Amino acid sequence: MSVFQGEVSTLPPDKSISHRAALIGALADGTTEITNFSGGYDNQSTLSVLQDAGISVRQESLAAGDGRIVRHVVIESGGLWSFRQPLAPLMCNNSGSTMRMMAGILAAQPFRSELIGDASLMKRPMKRVADPLRQMGAGIALSDSGTAPVVITGSRELKPIEYHLPVPSAQVKSLVAFAALHVDGLSKIIEPVRSRDHTELMLGLETIDRPDGVREIIIDGRRPLAARPFSVPADPSAACFMIALGLLGERSEIVLRDVCLNPTRVAYIEVLQEAGAGLGIENVRSEGGEPVGDIVVRSCSSLRPLRISDHGIVAGVIDEVPMLAVLSAFASGEFELHNAAELRTKESDRIDALVVNLERLGFDCEQYPDGFVVKGRTKSNTEEVEIECYDDHRIAMSFAIAAEAAGALLRLSDRQVAGVSFPNFFTLIDTLRQ
Ligand code: S3P
Repeated sequence: MSVFQGEVSTLPPDKSISHRAALIGALADGTTEITNFSGGYDNQSTLSVLQDAGISVRQESLAAGDGRIVRHVVIESGGLWSFRQPLAPLMCNNSGSTMRMMAGILAAQPFRSELIGDASLMKRPMKRVADPLRQMGAGIALSDSGTAPVVITGSRELKPIEYHLPVPSAQVKSLVAFAALHVDGLSKIIEPVRSRDHTELMLGLETIDRPDGVREIIIDGRRPLAARPFSVPADPSAACFMIALGLLGERSEIVLRDVCLNPTRVAYIEVLQEAGAGLGIENVRSEGGEPVGDIVVRSCSSLRPLRISDHGIVAGVIDEVPMLAVLSAFASGEFELHNAAELRTKESDRIDALVVNLERLGFDCEQYPDGFVVKGRTKSNTEEVEIECYDDHRIAMSFAIAAEAAGALLRLSDRQVAGVSFPNFFTLIDTLRQ
């Protein structure tokens, strides 16, 4: 295993915050300046969909004070009703966030529109999008299997909603909030299991945390939404891959700068610390309403196997499960996950994708409807192993890190897909390699 060392100030800007900054900019009245917008394909899909729906978007590269080149996005909008009927179906590519959150906005616009995606996105569940929007009075048509194309007959007369989230999903929460911003009245979202809360923070929504742990989010559609600037911190879900690299590497030490440390995003750090990982957090401060800081990771000679089953923790680490599973398998030989059926509805069926590829690497695995277990490595490969990426950036990147630890040559079926969230992923690994 190689040695990985260095300081990283070039992690990709957070994907979730970038999407929201662009969408909120399009909904707000005035000019929205976004500093450090992500160049990942998913976030670029949000910008192109906004442009195709009539919003003015300008993107430029600027030199930051420390010599880095950062993307600066400027969005001009006249507010909630500035969208125009698209001339063709809106192409969201691989981005579930773009499709789902845009659906909430388009449901409130007085025209017909259609959202489509790539082969992976066209298989993902959209009934969770249609249900609340239909309750609010929009017309939503899906395929017979409840997937895209999402055909929207929007209405300027949507009704307020009180919506209990049936699955912990920040995308569904956000699309309801975006639709409710257009409604003449108060709406409420009830969230039994916490998901990432960037939308609430960025819109300044009122939230009530009940004693039973349930959160209520209040949206007052009569409040004006004025444009404000956003600055996007580094993506903690991208940081997770570099953390795994540092933990698995020999005599390694990596410092990851300016990472978003929002508690709804960094549950994986606690999970790793509890398993004995050498991880430190430094220089914590608040920027634009989000906690931000530096993460220091050092090689770890022994990591206890990760076992994840609590519903709240599963929701908190949902995007990091692929990397955590692969890391735990290589560091300890074992991994166990339950109550995570949601993982089957991501960019790929991640339970199946992880099991298929870990088995190819010689691990003994068993999958259940809502999880899987890795029981040990029964054979170490010496020959080349083909890894199937299933159009899924997180599967590709998790096994690219595994390739460093596997002691065998791993051939990824698709390296490019990493660019969905982390365009400089492979160059960064090479920069850190000593
Ligand atoms: C996201 C929410 C999560 C996450 C996805 C990004 C977001 O999806 O998996 O990568 O930015 O709101 P769900 O809302 O489907 O849980």
